Amino acid sequence: MRITINDIRELKEKGEIITMVTAYDYSTAKIVDQVGIPLILVGDSLGMVVLGYESTIPVTLDIMLHHTKAVVRGTKQALVVGDMPFMTYHTSTEDAMRNAARFIQEAGAQAVKLEGGVTVADKVKRIVECGIPVMGHIGLTPQSINQIGGHKAQGKTPEAAVKILDDARALEQAGAFAVVLETVPAQLASLITEKISIPTIGIGAGPGCSGQVQVINDLLGSYTDFVPRHAKQYAKLADIISGALTEYYKEVRASTFPTKKHGSSIDESVLAELKAK
Ligand code: KIV
Repeated sequence: MRITINDIRELKEKGEIITMVTAYDYSTAKIVDQVGIPLILVGDSLGMVVLGYESTIPVTLDIMLHHTKAVVRGTKQALVVGDMPFMTYHTSTEDAMRNAARFIQEAGAQAVKLEGGVTVADKVKRIVECGIPVMGHIGLTPQSINQIGGHKAQGKTPEAAVKILDDARALEQAGAFAVVLETVPAQLASLITEKISIPTIGIGAGPGCSGQVQVINDLLGSYTDFVPRHAKQYAKLADIISGALTEYYKEVRASTFPTKKHGSSIDESVLAELKAK
């Protein structure tokens, strides 16, 4: 049985910390699912860690749907959240609803995530009213990086902190089932977590949130361009992959791979017949 938004709400009610991680492909999603992590985000962070762009802005809806389909195919239990990319929910409520629906209907996700608080609350409300669970995302919102002026912590002044609290409340009011708090001071994240009824999922927001989300490539050490301060590397996959490929490269050149056991052979009589032709 797949995890539902009610199960996620229940985790908060029981005081259990919610774990979420990104995944972008079938094989990785399958491992995440088998570990039992309840929430998978097919994040537009794939723009950087999978596609090599400098930001999430070039990521299109078609790219997101393509990766979300792969993640859904790799999972049986996790609730899969598809990240709505830049400008797919801003132009009108109709566009927001139509594009959110594609994640559910075409890609098989169970929920969508979109960035913004007060300014997108009307769209969140309509999407939720249509039966599509929405996760909010406030604080540092990478799709607005050109407006914000860099990956800086948000909510450090009294006005900015109040704005983030207002955003969280607007999303709660609009019916979002959870909200990501990205790169905000830990005390502010804890306060928001106390003040709203829906789970807060932090990234660079301290331990006082209802849950945590991380980009999987940061956790596994497979994206080496940049390691964010909020990430902890639980493995150094880039080193492991590099070591394995160096070995493969060496063995191919030395003709020690492949060996007999890596292939098949035909009967000597068939071979003799072939040679006679
Ligand atoms: O795209 C993403 O991976 C995200 C997380 C950082 C929350 O939005």
